[in-house]
Amino acid sequence: MRSSPKTRPLQNTVLVAAASRHGSTAEIAARIGYRLSENLPYATWRIDVLDSDSIDSIKDYDAVVLGSAIYLGHWLKSAKRLLDRTDVAPRLGLWIFGSGPANDGPPDAEPVAVAVNAAARLGAKDNVIFSGRIDLSSLGHIEHVLTNAMRVAGGDFRDWDLVDAWANDIARKLLSATPKGEQRKAVRQP
Ligand SMILES: Cc1cc2nc3c(=O)[nH]c(=O)nc-3n(C[C@H](O)[C@H](O)[C@H](O)COP(=O)(O)O)c2cc1C
Repeated sequence: MRSSPKTRPLQNTVLVAAASRHGSTAEIAARIGYRLSENLPYATWRIDVLDSDSIDSIKDYDAVVLGSAIYLGHWLKSAKRLLDRTDVAPRLGLWIFGSGPANDGPPDAEPVAVAVNAAARLGAKDNVIFSGRIDLSSLGHIEHVLTNAMRVAGGDFRDWDLVDAWANDIARKLLSATPKGEQRKAVRQP
């Protein structure tokens, strides 16, 4: 019989998953994964960075960082689906991020309902919005029409220092939340 997240021993598995249409949110997820791997000892932690399209569930991970690009006020389907399918937060915590606002100001996008509701329901450790990137040359026809109508100039507004600080803080929290004995028991799988 498969053990539930609460009863199986910690394996120190961390998932960083994101839904991205034009790649910039995937790059934020990759950066978070990289910072986590710098901070969490390789021998005792496994960090998977995946496209949310490629997974059905987050339940096999001890900690999860899940994000999505924001389009017209919504998360992309594959990341939303993962949140909808999750009943219990991962044992070491759930962190949520959206990536959207593409302007010079602070990331002041309207909170996205699916993220806010899931954060409350699952007791997420954090739910943040990072500034994003709009590359006008890569947009499809409808996106062009929309961005023209909204007079969006495009550009890369991602704040890597902010992303790094957020990821480093997650790593600190994971290290301090992990019982020392369980850290020693966990072995990284190939
Ligand atoms: C058609 C369109 C609609 C968008 N709508 C929003 C929005 O409602 N809120 C927001 O914060 N950003 C919005 N954005 C900005 C994107 O979220 C931003 O470009 C993001 O970085 C894209 O991520 P991706 O490269 O991973 O697809 C929109 C962009 C486009 C092209």
